[in-house]
Amino acid sequence: MDKHAIPANSPVAVIGAGAMGTGIAQVAAQVGHPVILIDTSEEALERSRQSLDKSLAGMVERGRVAEAEAAELAARIVRTTDMARASTARLAIEAVVERLEVKRDVFARLAAAMAEDAVLASNTSSLSIGALAAGVPHPERFIGLHFFNPVPVMKLVEVIPGTYTAPATVEAAEAAMQRWGKIAARVRDVPGFIVNRVARPYYAEAFAAWGEGIPAAKIDAALESAGGFRMGPLALTDLIGQDVNYGVAANVHDGYRGKTRFRLQPAQRALTQSGKLGRKSGEGVYTYPAGRPEPTA
Ligand code: NAI
Repeated sequence: MDKHAIPANSPVAVIGAGAMGTGIAQVAAQVGHPVILIDTSEEALERSRQSLDKSLAGMVERGRVAEAEAAELAARIVRTTDMARASTARLAIEAVVERLEVKRDVFARLAAAMAEDAVLASNTSSLSIGALAAGVPHPERFIGLHFFNPVPVMKLVEVIPGTYTAPATVEAAEAAMQRWGKIAARVRDVPGFIVNRVARPYYAEAFAAWGEGIPAAKIDAALESAGGFRMGPLALTDLIGQDVNYGVAANVHDGYRGKTRFRLQPAQRALTQSGKLGRKSGEGVYTYPAGRPEPTA
């Protein structure tokens, strides 16, 4: 076996059972990996289970998978708060909050639990892969795998080698992503990589226009109908989560040393600080009276 190989059907650990971790776990289980889904919060694990059940029920309803197949997929995912359960995994993908010190702590604990040649990946949107790998034992097996929301629907995965990443790690990660049905785009370890770097001024300008009094629905409709985007920028930030999106914006702004094109918008900060986090909290730019709608695969 190649040193950093991620064999088909080998166990995969996913850390963080939020929107992204839940989607990543689903996609890994869909192609046959047993999945160990880890979170510090029992409540988050339970919410994640409900969200997966809902997503699978939708797929069965639309005839995309048979009921028995959906049940098998769900049974491949175990949920736990115990990081040591990652010990058998050949690949761990971290999708916890976008904070360097929290992610570093997760990787230190994963490295202690897992084989020294198992691949460690971060789903970070905006932190440096080199910075996350620094201090992790055997950083040559460390890589960025940046998925998009909703993970079962979005094909693109940015694959980000950091300063320490070995070519064998990149090859193993790209091969795994292809097996998962994803389009792997290898990108450089710069703040925001490609997609979040290009998208930052786009979101910022939409927030600025909204802050000037242009209705959100008008801004989104313009981009959807005339611009051809599947979802307008403000609706998309509600899907991403205002807290997640604001954290990424702040990291990209810092990463480019405060360049004005990456400036932070007061409207974004206000939503985040007042707990209006978008779909997951029931209110953001828009309100979601039905509670917590989940994107469907
Ligand atoms: P989320 O807020 O929905 O979920 C984060 C989960 O991590 C929570 O369940 C929380 O309990 C858990 N967590 C926090 N600290 C932990 C720890 N020390 N150990 C284990 N679990 C812990 O966040 P979301 O949206 O899933 O984002 C997660 C990561 O993915 C972030 O780095 C974000 O930047 C990135 N990302 C987010 C996208 C989005 O559209 N939301 C898109 C692409 C990347």
